[in-house]
Amino acid sequence: MPRIDTHTPLGQLVAGRPRRARVLNQLGLDCRAAWRKPLDQACAESHLDVEAVAEQLATSEVQNQGAADEGLCDMPLQEFVEQIAQTHHRFVREELPRLAGLLCRVVETHAERHPELWEVVRVFSELRTELLPHVDTEERIVFPIIVRFEQEQGMRRARMPWGSLGTLMRMMEQDHSRALGQLDRIRSLTGGFAPPEDADPAYTALLEGFAALDDDLRKHMALEDDVLFARAALLESETSST
Ligand SMILES: [Fe+2]
Ligand SMILES: [Fe+2]
Repeated sequence: MPRIDTHTPLGQLVAGRPRRARVLNQLGLDCRAAWRKPLDQACAESHLDVEAVAEQLATSEVQNQGAADEGLCDMPLQEFVEQIAQTHHRFVREELPRLAGLLCRVVETHAERHPELWEVVRVFSELRTELLPHVDTEERIVFPIIVRFEQEQGMRRARMPWGSLGTLMRMMEQDHSRALGQLDRIRSLTGGFAPPEDADPAYTALLEGFAALDDDLRKHMALEDDVLFARAALLESETSST
């Protein structure tokens, strides 16, 4: 595990390491406000144990290694968002209607013996209603702003009617937490996406589809939260520190 020098300024600690910025933010340390402040001083002012924080940063470095190995920490953001749209957003747009159709069929046949399916319908319809506009908002508004932020230094301080890029990204992160919570609920209602003994092929296919959606959404949202938004937050921090 890498050793963290606790006298290093926050800006230097997080440069090129988006996951570290996210860890500090989650601990309540605002990299933007304390860009030039040494870690030990920032921790003391926030009543945080500097050694514990340094250990969390070092651990996050190891966890981030997968993204670094794939070049995701250096890839131009235009390319990064295109990859997300073409893989994960496409998956969401194709899978949600397909699963909704399957769920209707399964409810018709099995809801009498498996009344928990009605709650699955309610939670899944919430997820579907919220997730489709979410990916649209990312592609139409959030991703283009992030790309422009990287490409056009001059627009970094441009006024946005809804506040800052940070506000937008926090809204997206809240959507992610909500979607993952809805999937947790479906997982728990279906006993971990396990088909019951009387399941027919449609029921089994539905649960396999939920499991695949769960897996893909977790990867998708980790890429956005831990790499894309963290990199964009760094760009914003660097700008406001100059
Ligand atoms: Fe997304
Ligand atoms: Fe998202």
